[in-house]
Parts: sequence; C-alpha cells; structure tokens
Amino acid sequence: MNDESSPTVDVAGKRAVVVGGTTGIGRGIARAFAADGADVIATSRSEESVAEITDELRLADVRTTEVTCDVTDRASIERLRDVAVDTLGGVDVLVNSAGATDHASLLDMTDAQWAFSVDVLLSGVFRACQVFGRAMESGSIVNVSSMSAGQIREHRPAYCAAKSGVNGLTRAAAVDLAPEIRVNAIAPGFVRTELSGERLDESSPVRESIDQRTPLGHIAGTEEIAGAAVYLASDAASFTTGEVVTVDGGYDRSAL
Ligand SMILES: NC(=O)c1ccc[n+]([C@@H]2O[C@H](COP(=O)([O-])OP(=O)(O)OC[C@H]3O[C@@H](n4cnc5c(N)ncnc54)[C@H](OP(=O)(O)O)[C@@H]3O)[C@@H](O)[C@H]2O)c1
Repeated sequence: MNDESSPTVDVAGKRAVVVGGTTGIGRGIARAFAADGADVIATSRSEESVAEITDELRLADVRTTEVTCDVTDRASIERLRDVAVDTLGGVDVLVNSAGATDHASLLDMTDAQWAFSVDVLLSGVFRACQVFGRAMESGSIVNVSSMSAGQIREHRPAYCAAKSGVNGLTRAAAVDLAPEIRVNAIAPGFVRTELSGERLDESSPVRESIDQRTPLGHIAGTEEIAGAAVYLASDAASFTTGEVVTVDGGYDRSAL
C-alpha cells in the first residue's frame, strides 16, 4: 500500500463466508457485510435458520446461497468451501462465529462436556481456518473469541480455555498464512444472544451490575460488534494481523 492510496473501512465487493452467521453476533456481521455491499454466505447447522438469513441477505441484492455447515465435521466445512467458491468465484473473508458450550464447575465438568465445547469453539476454528486458508488466495479471517479468554469466570473451564486457545490459534495462523491472508480475532464483551441466554435480559440482576460496571453503560448490540469485523476485514486493516480486538464497552478494563 503506498502513501497516496486511501483505504476505506468497508467490505464492498468482497466475498465473505460467515460461519455461525445465522443468529447473534455472526448474523450481525453478515448483515453489516451485506449492507456494505459484500457478497455473503451465512451458515450454521440449521437449514431453517440458513434459509431465513439467506432470504434476508437476498433483499440486500448481494450474491449468496443456502448451505448448512457443522464445524465439528471437516467434510461439512469442505462442502461449504466448495459451494462458496462455486457461488462467489472465491472467498476473500472468513468469519468464524460458531458458538455452543456447556457450563459446569471444573469439578463437575464431564469429559463429554469439555470435548463438546472445545470441538465447536476451538477445533472448529482450526478446521475452518485450515480448509479456507488453503482455498483463499488472499484476504482476511476474523475469529470471534471472547473477553472470557482473559478473565476469571466461574463455571466456564472449557469456554475460557477454548477462547484462550482461539487467541493463540489466531496469532499462530497469522504467521502461517502471511502475507496473503491476515488473521485477527474480536473479543466481545457481553452481548444478548441465544448463547448468552436470559441472564443478560433487561430484567436480570446480573444485567444491571454489568451495565453499571461498563463505562459505555450498556451491553453490546450485535451491530456494535459487527463494526470491528468490518474494520478487520477491510483494506483499512491491511497492516493488522495476529491481533485480538476487545469490544466490550470498557467492561474488562473498568475498576468500578
Ligand atoms: N453473546 C455473548 O455475550 C458473547 C460474548 C463473547 C463471545 N461470544 C462468542 O460469539 C460467538 C457467537 O455466539 P453468539 O452469542 O452470537 O451465539 P448464538 O446467537 O447462539 O450464535 C451461535 C451461532 O453458531 C451456530 N453454531 C452452533 N454450533 C455450530 C456448529 N457446530 N457448526 C456451525 N455452526 C454452529 C449457531 O447456529 P446453529 O445452532 O443453527 O448451528 C449460530 O448461528 C461464539 O463463539 C461465542 O462464544 C459471545
């Protein structure tokens, strides 16, 4: 990039795949990408959810298609890659936002609960980075990590370990896929989604204490997380790789 060019913070014209893009944070990112003029395939395990978001993306007049994907199944990710390349002619941006987990205290967590969380949250990101990393000629991968990677959280041994793993994997992949592909992560704070559940509802006492501790005064809407994904996927971030960007309204740094 030379001094005369002026990269803009947008993803217009890019070809993007958002894994875990049918609800929550991933759906917010898929919507933001499409609003910017990117072609977007948003996927997850559920045919119904994929059909719903794809119908919505079509309204934005971008190229898209319906395809399901389960990140615990490598063949399913390879099928997604093939469909994406066939439909869009290539892939410039991969977002990994699949999320599912089981919470239990360290002493109670079963091997099956541990394996389930790590398989979706960490191994799934590894598989997708590898499968798409081999197919993408250039571009950007954005992994959705969590503020929990760096926090002391009760009853979340698998979740916190998996998200710390995603941060490490992001840094390692950034080196292995450079210079063609940049790899970064977003670490959201609290966002009300299916995964975060009712404890973040307006009426929940937990929610009140989070809002109070957060300097920006509220938990995030998914669109507030999407802005960071747009930046990291855009040409404006052309010299940024291996980074984990915290998007938490200041919660983690707050001493309140
Ligand atoms: N919400 C928060 O406060 C928060 C904070 C920090 C980080 N995060 C992270 O953000 C990411 C998205 O979570 P969210 O809060 O947006 O939750 P969400 O609304 O439940 O979305 C999770 C998405 O992942 C998909 N998914 C689940 N298992 C999958 C699998 N095996 N293969 C492919 N897709 C799968 C879901 O669709 P299907 O069920 O149809 O497959 C859905 O599209 C997660 O990695 C989560 O850890 C969330």
